[in-house]
Amino acid sequence: MATLIAPETAAASTRAFPAQTSRPWGRPRRARHDIGHHELTGQYRIDLRDQAPDLFDDVSAMDWTTLTWRDVGRPYRTEKWSSARTSYEQTHQQPLPIADGWRLFNTAFHQFFLTDVPDAQRQAKAQFGEALSRFDMHEAKEALQDIAYLAVWNKIMRVEDAVWDPRGKRALFAGLEVKKPRILFLGAADGYEAMQLAAMYPGGEIVLVDYDAFCATDRFGKFPLDYPFLGVDPTTGHQRVWYRDEMPIHFEVADIRDLQYGQEFDVVVSIGLLEHFPDAHKAECLEMHRRFLKPGGTVVMTTPRNQFKSRVFYNLMADWMNHGYRELMDVRQMGLYCQENGFDIRRAGVIKAHNGLVMKLR
Ligand SMILES: C[S@@+](CC[C@H](N)C(=O)[O-])C[C@H]1O[C@@H](n2cnc3c(N)ncnc32)[C@H](O)[C@@H]1O
Repeated sequence: MATLIAPETAAASTRAFPAQTSRPWGRPRRARHDIGHHELTGQYRIDLRDQAPDLFDDVSAMDWTTLTWRDVGRPYRTEKWSSARTSYEQTHQQPLPIADGWRLFNTAFHQFFLTDVPDAQRQAKAQFGEALSRFDMHEAKEALQDIAYLAVWNKIMRVEDAVWDPRGKRALFAGLEVKKPRILFLGAADGYEAMQLAAMYPGGEIVLVDYDAFCATDRFGKFPLDYPFLGVDPTTGHQRVWYRDEMPIHFEVADIRDLQYGQEFDVVVSIGLLEHFPDAHKAECLEMHRRFLKPGGTVVMTTPRNQFKSRVFYNLMADWMNHGYRELMDVRQMGLYCQENGFDIRRAGVIKAHNGLVMKLR
């Protein structure tokens, strides 16, 4: 596999956004967080509030069996490509290998998470002022672009908490009939949702699978040890806060198509995977969710919503995010793909940025 950009060298720039890969993520852990704690850090929001509203728009009552593609239309495709992809294809006269695209995506997205937004905003504003005082219009334009990118990332990650969306995910994951589940996360990236599931249903085990080793070393490997997940204490049944290093997690760097597991997982989860498979390959993607599931097991999937904000995000951030095929869809389209491929949809709805489904096999 050709490696395009090594994560270590990807960010050798003085621009304010995104941050260098060497920047620390999170803070050292101090006292345990209290239930209800709510705080905005420079990089992310901590939200252990457990009161309503739960930010889950529930459409579980929908009759999936009568829905047709004529009713719901087809997903939207993000087709503004990154310059890395375009220049690779011009140079090599062949498509950018999919796995290379993921490596670029994960490296760049990780840098977004590492960015201390208020710091970077101060830096970008200062750079703008300095560039103007030197009549350096090129650098002033770059600083202005960084100010715009930072405004978007700040809104999505910190103001709205729409990337991790712990309250929406907790609402989507609520009520699963599982005890001490073995959880398999396909295309795990930072492993966030498996950790949220394990906090809510503790005592089992998590297997994270991603073929990008950078996820094992950095996106998950350096995930903040102080980030709290609201869940339950199995001994008392009361709410409890969990941290990454309190969960039994195994990270497997592998292609999900090569996994050798049997039907041994209580929960199989993917977050933002299905939409990267064109229609001709959707069945293959959904089969990967079925293959490792215990009889009676639960599949949890989310995909990004086709909403104005998301289209703006993927267009504006195309250079970092758009290295490969992606669709934005609505929950009915997502449900129809799953319904057609043998899944029984038990719970469906939308959270801030994603559609979510909880399913069994028919
Ligand atoms: C869009 S990301 C999922 C979004 C994720 N929640 C995040 O925060 O970035 C999909 C992940 O799946 C991984 N992936 C895609 N195809 C894969 C495959 N065939 N085997 C293993 N991992 C795969 C990619 O490397 C990437 O980390």
